[in-house]
Amino acid sequence: MIKPKTGTLYGIGIGPGDPDLITIKASKILNKVDVVFAAASTKNSYSLAVKIAKLHIPETTLIKMLSFPMTKDINETEKAWENHALTIIKELEFGKDVAFVTLGDCLTYSTYGYILKNIRKIAPNLDIKSIPGITSYQAAASRLNMPLVEGEETLMVVSGAKGGQNLRQFSAKPECAVFLKAYKNIGDIISALNETGVYESCVGVLNCGKPEDEIVMAINELGKRKPDYWTLIIAKQKNGS
Ligand SMILES: C[S@@+](CC[C@H](N)C(=O)[O-])C[C@H]1O[C@@H](n2cnc3c(N)ncnc32)[C@H](O)[C@@H]1O
Repeated sequence: MIKPKTGTLYGIGIGPGDPDLITIKASKILNKVDVVFAAASTKNSYSLAVKIAKLHIPETTLIKMLSFPMTKDINETEKAWENHALTIIKELEFGKDVAFVTLGDCLTYSTYGYILKNIRKIAPNLDIKSIPGITSYQAAASRLNMPLVEGEETLMVVSGAKGGQNLRQFSAKPECAVFLKAYKNIGDIISALNETGVYESCVGVLNCGKPEDEIVMAINELGKRKPDYWTLIIAKQKNGS
């Protein structure tokens, strides 16, 4: 008996929020896959990634949400990743081509990374193709018309989920530091940037590419506001551009 051909999983970065910033390749794939998967919280079935990608998904395509528990329990989270990987594997083994959509780039602080690792572990021979997306900080730099790095300069992309610690631990400060996840612990991120004494220009970009897009030049102000998940900070040294 001939074994049926398994499908392909496409991990797709759909860009930072502006539907026009989806790559042509991503658009073509979204147009032809059988199923589109996206992460959602257990509280609802909303996915911003799907909302943004919607223009590129035919009405008839099945969209399935994979809900993730909002918990700090690592076992519970890992179980959810594994179960979702199994759900996707089932479709692939059935011969379906599927997409998993995530915001920005699919391999930069993305839920897709966990899906990818789990699928590889459980079914290493399945066909997987990752399609890069424009990251939030690339879109933010464009929004500001600000070169991130030039010549011999160094760019550091940091998670701000635990505050400014990731910057403090490096004694040599890069010419450009980008903080993603600059929300819950934004006060500490601002303190860490100030402590260095080298970042002359620190700009907060909120909801880049979305209708509520905002640029905050005085980042100290950001620390006084209600944290917004969709916040990043680009910090540049004086000798940077
Ligand atoms: C889990 S990371 C996802 C990063 C994404 N994969 C990327 O390539 O940009 C989420 C963080 O990215 C940043 N982010 C993503 N989209 C953004 C946007 N449109 N405007 C500002 N920040 C954004 C925020 O710092 C947010 O807390």
